[in-house]
Amino acid sequence: MLVNEKSYQTVWMEGTSVYMIQQNLLPFEFKIHECPSYMDSCIAIHDMIVRGAGAIGAAAGFAMAQAFLMLNDKLKAVTIREARQDIENTRPTAKNLFYAVDRVYKAGLISPENALIEAQKVAVQDAADSKKIGEFGSSLINKKANILTHCNAGWLAFVDYGTALAPVYLAKRQGKDVFVYVDETRPRGQGAKLTAWELQNDGVPHLIIPDNAAASLMAQKKIDMVIVGADRIAANGDVANKIGTLEKAIVAGEYGVPFYVAAPTSTFDKYCISGKEIPIEERSEDEVLYQTGTDANNNLVKVRIASPGSHAINPAFDITPAKYISGIITEKGIVKAHYKSIRTLFD
Ligand code: MRU
Repeated sequence: MLVNEKSYQTVWMEGTSVYMIQQNLLPFEFKIHECPSYMDSCIAIHDMIVRGAGAIGAAAGFAMAQAFLMLNDKLKAVTIREARQDIENTRPTAKNLFYAVDRVYKAGLISPENALIEAQKVAVQDAADSKKIGEFGSSLINKKANILTHCNAGWLAFVDYGTALAPVYLAKRQGKDVFVYVDETRPRGQGAKLTAWELQNDGVPHLIIPDNAAASLMAQKKIDMVIVGADRIAANGDVANKIGTLEKAIVAGEYGVPFYVAAPTSTFDKYCISGKEIPIEERSEDEVLYQTGTDANNNLVKVRIASPGSHAINPAFDITPAKYISGIITEKGIVKAHYKSIRTLFD
């Protein structure tokens, strides 16, 4: 993706360091963050310097490769299995993290160099899958379409292209008249901060809306379709995605608005029979009680926005039952959110 005329990927590895766009500074500052060791990469994933299913998958794969490369010297005290555990403990919900770590771990048992080659392959595949998702997904978009999206499943959430936004970018390049309503996505504001920044960067017309505005807009027939990403998809088609997705799906069902999920096959978890088995990450209450933004002098500041003394809960994801989903856009085609359709992806 181009930023200030320069081509970037969200996360990459050079030498033994992992580099990533520092997403927790966006949209206020564009900076590249370096992780010299696998421990630094773990911190970056946990603290959401890199975030989004595919991007954390690629970062986790690189972290696993870093651990293998350190094995002979600095990593003396820590076994490679413990390193794997450290990486897997960073964030529990996105399947891509476990998918990437597993691939790189198995490759690394042959040699550290092999681990690095595999990690690079995971990242290349992530971008290629996203590109295909864009191609399949754009076929669903009419010549003129108002699209709602939740959270950020654009190129920042993957190595490149994105999932939910890839069809939008392609539709625009195909000359379609696309307009995006962007849920702000409380508490961390991935919509207001990241999706809006991406769309602005790509010249896609859009408006940020409060998280509780979608029902009203759908009632007024202002939304033609919804496209969201996914962090994990169960064998029966239930989808884990950013908290708030479930509400949009129910409302879309009520108003007859098509609700699509876009995700690569690396996000599917055949061992989760239904969404009930998907682990949901619980994050710090501070993300709800405080907000970060810039003051009049452009300094990044964190302010409390909730009543002092009150506490909050912060489940990061929810589960949308398959019955609300019109289709799942994958790199292999569009399937129904039903175990029989999903199974064809893996035959
Ligand atoms: O907590 P995040 O920002 O890492 O959330 C993951 C996501 O990016 C979203 O849930 C997204 O909609 C699906 S995956 C790109």
